[in-house]
Amino acid sequence: MRDVPAATLNAALLQDALTGLTASPKTLPCKWLYDAEGARLFEAITRLAEYYPTRTEMAILPVASTAIAAACGSGVAVVEFGSGDGSKVSVLLSVLDRPSAYVPVDIAAEWLAGAAARVAAEQPGLPVLPVVADFTRYFPLPAALPAGPRMGFFPGSTIGNFTAEEAAGFLGRARDVLGPDSWLVLGADLVKAPDILEAAYDDADGVTAAFNLNILARLNRECGTDFDLSGFRHAARWNAAAERVEMHLISRRSQWIDLAGKRITFAEGESIHTENSHKYRPAGFRALAERAGWVAMDMWTDPKQLFSVWLLKAA
Ligand code: AVJ
Repeated sequence: MRDVPAATLNAALLQDALTGLTASPKTLPCKWLYDAEGARLFEAITRLAEYYPTRTEMAILPVASTAIAAACGSGVAVVEFGSGDGSKVSVLLSVLDRPSAYVPVDIAAEWLAGAAARVAAEQPGLPVLPVVADFTRYFPLPAALPAGPRMGFFPGSTIGNFTAEEAAGFLGRARDVLGPDSWLVLGADLVKAPDILEAAYDDADGVTAAFNLNILARLNRECGTDFDLSGFRHAARWNAAAERVEMHLISRRSQWIDLAGKRITFAEGESIHTENSHKYRPAGFRALAERAGWVAMDMWTDPKQLFSVWLLKAA
């Protein structure tokens, strides 16, 4: 154990690490992958040849957005779950008929500022009302939001990080937050050949490996652990039964670390499960959405059917 300055100690991460690393099998929540370095590495992942989701979704969005704009009419307020960098929502906002406002929602205040500034610069006159909130829980929309229909926007297949139960919970809460007559535009990655999936999550340049291992560097920095990063290797596995890509950190040898006074041991070959990325079949996704209070109005995909963009309407 090393001493961590009180200002950098991350009590919530420490609590999650204690829970996850004393469990069997060991886990860490994937949200902790995204510190500043993790966000930079994820950005690099989106530009890799093997990582098809981002560029495929970006190719679908212009076509989908034009149809969505025609279906939804004028004056919708766009509420983005997880603010991203603002590049995806720009495609949508630029074709919607007089959107009433843009509401980026993110738990990280620093990241909200970037999306808000980018959209404000590109859409002069559009009210931007950022909300600092954890969108995996209920949160109220800003009181200043003009009346009128709302459109949720949840791109990137971030929904894939949720279990089926969590995804249903998210969709149901989004329906409650957005209210009656609302819309939800959502990106969902599709089931495909395992070799394409495994390459997307284990690229030749090792960027995804660095992204995964960074969670241990973050624990060292923010919780005072002494992980030797060279003692773990990245693994990406297609779990065919659960239809998800799993990221793991595999201990290369038997070793131990101390975490808040607790000794945690790792057997050689033992895994820390750091992320699930669920992939969907169109019929399965439609059923999930419809169980959660939405009607699937339309779905767009690419010629290779790698990725899907959905327009849902509150039931
Ligand atoms: C940001 C959750 C959509 O699951 O594809 C990329 C994260 N993990 N490479 C995904 C991720 C490894 C990504 N999401």
